[in-house]
Amino acid sequence: MRIERIELKNFRGHRHTEVDLGAGMTAILGENGSGKTTIPEALIWALYGSRAARGNNDTILFWGAEKGEKVEVKATFVLDGEPYTVARSVKDATVFRDSTPVAEGAGATVEFIEGLLGMSREEFQATYFTGQKELEWLRDKGPADRARFLGKVMGYDKLKDAQKAVRTERNNARSKADAIENLLSSEQPVSEEEITAAKAKLMGALTRAKGLDDALTTANTKAEETKAAMAELTLQRKSWMAARDEFRSAEASKAQADELLVSLKAQREQAAANVDHGDYSTQIESTEKDLELTRNEIDVRKERRREAEHAFQLAERQLKDAEQELRVLREQGSGGRCRTCGQVLGDSWQESVRRAEDKVTHLTHQRDTKEEVYKGAQKHFADAPSLTHLETALAELRGKQRASETAKATLQTIDTHIESAAKAADLKTRILEQARADLSTVTFDEERFDQLSMDAARVTETLRSLNADLLDATRTVERLEAKVSSLREALDRRAKLETQRKELTQNLAVLDDTDRLFTELRTALNDRLRPELSEIATQVIAEITDGRFTEFLLDEDYRIRLYDSGREVPVISGGQEDMANLALRIAVSTLVSERSGRPLSFLILDEVFGSLDAGRQEAVIDVLRQLSEDRFEQVILITHTETVKDLADSVILVDRDEKTGASGVTTGFGPREAA
Ligand SMILES: Nc1ncnc2c1ncn2[C@@H]1O[C@H](COP(=O)(O)OP(=O)(O)OP(=O)(O)O)[C@@H](O)[C@H]1O
Ligand SMILES: [Mg+2]
Repeated sequence: MRIERIELKNFRGHRHTEVDLGAGMTAILGENGSGKTTIPEALIWALYGSRAARGNNDTILFWGAEKGEKVEVKATFVLDGEPYTVARSVKDATVFRDSTPVAEGAGATVEFIEGLLGMSREEFQATYFTGQKELEWLRDKGPADRARFLGKVMGYDKLKDAQKAVRTERNNARSKADAIENLLSSEQPVSEEEITAAKAKLMGALTRAKGLDDALTTANTKAEETKAAMAELTLQRKSWMAARDEFRSAEASKAQADELLVSLKAQREQAAANVDHGDYSTQIESTEKDLELTRNEIDVRKERRREAEHAFQLAERQLKDAEQELRVLREQGSGGRCRTCGQVLGDSWQESVRRAEDKVTHLTHQRDTKEEVYKGAQKHFADAPSLTHLETALAELRGKQRASETAKATLQTIDTHIESAAKAADLKTRILEQARADLSTVTFDEERFDQLSMDAARVTETLRSLNADLLDATRTVERLEAKVSSLREALDRRAKLETQRKELTQNLAVLDDTDRLFTELRTALNDRLRPELSEIATQVIAEITDGRFTEFLLDEDYRIRLYDSGREVPVISGGQEDMANLALRIAVSTLVSERSGRPLSFLILDEVFGSLDAGRQEAVIDVLRQLSEDRFEQVILITHTETVKDLADSVILVDRDEKTGASGVTTGFGPREAA
């Protein structure tokens, strides 16, 4: 493989850089941070995609890129005489062979390149690219780290990972096998005999259930028949009972009507006894007349008493007046004056007194007579006949008359009642006769009905008990079925577990073998790695020291030992050590490349001088130049060491424009080429 050209567009610090690489040793020269390492990184990125570069797709774009500009890298190389170009942007990639696309798309490109070069990205990098400070690191680290590094660049850690995976799988298989073992020992194994016995029991239970089911069918038929007969009889009984009830009610009704009639007749007798046949009207009339006469008599006597009273009172007043007159005459004597004429009485006084005395005597007599009459009238009035007696008698008569009339009316009412009650009793008698006739027409066999009722109860009981038995039998069947299936399952489960155990045991044996083989393989590879590396490194060191060191040995501890004509060089100087490490690194590259089936054709060494002093740097450069002449088609040396300029076949100067921040290259020729 020969790298011809790398073109970077907006790739990190490079805005647009084209690097053409020729044969021999090319020095890429520039100050720190000028963008040197970026150039081989762009190559690897073009071949293998984003995982190959520091940073990510976002940080990869040149900071000063114009809007819309994209990262693009094109790498051109020749392999087996065929020119290839890989063009990659962030999302896409294409491989051209002789300008014909042979792989398109980011994924397809990586796949194609891996196939074409026979290497993964890591292998490519380990083979062709010796990173900045890698040799320094190799020198400074102990043997263990060196061994690990070698294993890693040789791709042996893949074997380690694979073995680790095998061991994990084996551990998992072991835990699974343990779990199965536990399961197997925790369960009592089930025998076929046990299953056969359980099945026999199940058959017995099924036979019993079948027998019960048949009995139940028969009992059900009987029950249906009884039910039908009962239904018919019940219907008859219903009409019979209705007719009987009708008759009984008619009987009661008739008795009630008879009773009413009897009671009404008794009432009538009672009422008839109460009726009075006396002629109260005439008696009342005569008593009323007597009462009238008596009242008139009383009024007359009352009037007479009043008149007598008046006459008596008048006589008394007249007497008093005359007595007054007499008293006045006597008091005044003869000098008194006449009351009529007013003349002094004088001599007539005597006469006047005598006359007055006569008048008083007359009037006294008159008053006494009147008093006598008045007393007589009073007595007459008091002796008048009493009204009360007559009034009482009249009231009594009227009461008797009313009672008699009431009794007559009652009798009449009762008679009316008796008439309608008699009619009703008549009707009830007819109804009763009808009911009797109806009852006699209905047929109902009570004895048969009782018998059937008993039969029905018995059948119901039989059904109940048969159903209970059947339920019990069904449950037994279910229980036994469950038992049989659980035994069968246990048997199957055990068989399955045993199969699994067998498979796992076989698998474990295979995994154990694999693990052992891995260990053996890794040991064999490691055992071969050191002599193989030693052999190649011996050639390299002999070449680069012009045969000063005849043997390079990587011992069991991965320590480098150098021999000069069969004698170990006891102390290796710093410069010799750097050279030895370089030889080892080249040996690694060679070995990896051989394994890929392609000879190692170029080397990129990024700042491999480490802390070498100027003299030793020159020695190493010399060695590299030598290698580019003898061993590799291309050696690309990245450095900021100016002395390289004079030793390289061509020089690529990298610098960074402070203003634009973009890196650029200037290609020149080294002194050898120029010459
Ligand atoms: N996306 C980017 N755009 C612009 N510049 C970038 C970008 N990414 C990195 N850089 C610059 O690129 C430079 C690093 O590039 P590189 O590693 O190739 O330098 P170098 O020449 O190898 O340096 P050294 O000699 O120190 O190894 C840094 O200056 C960094 O700022
Ligand atoms: Mg660098």
